[in-house]
Amino acid sequence: MSDKATSQGAPEPVDGQNPTRGNAGQDADAKELGHPVSFESSVAMGHTAASVDRSRGSVLSVDNLRMYFPVKSSGLRRTVGHVQAVDGVSFEVPRGSSLGLVGESGCGKSTTGRLITRLYEPTGGSMMFEGHDLAKISNRAMKPLRKDIQMIFQDPYTSLNPRHTVGAIIGTPLSVHNVVPKKKILSRVQELLEVVGLNPEHYNRYPNEFSGGQRQRIGIARALALQPKLMVADEPVSALDVSIQAQVINLLQDLQKEFDISFLFIAHDLAVVRHFCPEVAVMYLGKIVEIADRETLYKRSHHPYTQALLSAVPDVKQAAIGGRRERIMLQGDVPSPINPPSGCRFRTRCPLAREICAKVEPPMLQVGPRHKVACHFAGELGHHPHDPVTARMLGVDNDGNPDPGASPSDIGNSPGFSDVWFDLKERRTVKP
Ligand SMILES: Nc1ncnc2c1ncn2[C@@H]1O[C@H](COP(=O)(O)OP(=O)(O)OP(=O)(O)O)[C@@H](O)[C@H]1O
Ligand code: SF4
Ligand SMILES: [Mg+2]
Repeated sequence: MSDKATSQGAPEPVDGQNPTRGNAGQDADAKELGHPVSFESSVAMGHTAASVDRSRGSVLSVDNLRMYFPVKSSGLRRTVGHVQAVDGVSFEVPRGSSLGLVGESGCGKSTTGRLITRLYEPTGGSMMFEGHDLAKISNRAMKPLRKDIQMIFQDPYTSLNPRHTVGAIIGTPLSVHNVVPKKKILSRVQELLEVVGLNPEHYNRYPNEFSGGQRQRIGIARALALQPKLMVADEPVSALDVSIQAQVINLLQDLQKEFDISFLFIAHDLAVVRHFCPEVAVMYLGKIVEIADRETLYKRSHHPYTQALLSAVPDVKQAAIGGRRERIMLQGDVPSPINPPSGCRFRTRCPLAREICAKVEPPMLQVGPRHKVACHFAGELGHHPHDPVTARMLGVDNDGNPDPGASPSDIGNSPGFSDVWFDLKERRTVKP
């Protein structure tokens, strides 16, 4: 449900916003004035795009993560298949910065986020967080870590319990984790309301007394209460109007700097991700197909799916992702994750697909200092190679048939980047 839709039937938004943080009062004003502020112009006001300090390493390292949901027969007795929602995903979240995760609906973004917060137990893989493997840790050992990893949910209308006051919603994590003495919880809740730009005196109001943007601020205050090191933000602004999106993004950026929070930022809006995330991973049908620093991904993407996604952004938003691009129309629908295509999962929709794509899965290949791509024909738009760049290293010929004369290389799908990569022009490994 959109912010606009709810505000029509909902009670009036609360008055008397705290002016110190993020213009929460404008959540309602921008709409009432009928001046929708563009995302780009709103975020530009005093906010620079986030950066990454590489010397600080990563806060989370995810390696070959898998989540297969069982599909039951109609009697619910037998498992008749599996939804391969996440299938061998590897990435790192830079400490104090943000990794964006983008892709079409159903590609496995939320499942990845839910695995990290351990709302689901993974089928396989590892998730190293501050020396602990979140994939293997017991629920008991996970308890103290839960406060370090918090989640902001997509829908501010359903993620807050309508029967609880804002004070109870934000105060509950404080009492569950016993981090603040009981008598100090109220003052801490008020502090948090102030931090997210809401009136601290409104702790005893209910979620339906707030607008969509304000509710999302309540969700952010709840996630912030335990001073997490890592936040998984699952489409935190997609349910909001565009002008309000920018305010919430600016708030998240302020909080990131102030409290040194690292983000896994899930979104389908490429303009939002570009502003918030110095590194971006693109997912398709349970796999990461390309991951790179922001400049490379938006200006020199090498995967046909990333190129199609970037070309599909409406004209008015093209400026925010680096200019106008010719639209690439993808054919067909996303296949079922229960029975994904052999070889490359994108091949049924890829305009470049050839024989090898059905036979051999393309490995995740590092092709630049901070750029990895999983495509046999990786290359900039209009400059994809004629022969597969991966055949020799996989020990197959150009059609994907086993090549007895070849000696395959050992290509891992490890998280992060190496200081050695494969030069696509030279077709050899380079170490600058
Ligand atoms: N609990 C579950 N049981 C079975 N299948 C599930 C479950 N949760 C998700 N799935 C399936 O896993 C796949 C990935 O879902 P997920 O919600 O992670 O996608 P998403 O990228 O977040 O999509 P959206 O952009 O629509 O939020 C989908 O096919 C979905 O139907
Ligand atoms: S491996 Fe083949 S099908 Fe997959 S993206 Fe590359 S060209 Fe397309
Ligand atoms: Mg989702």
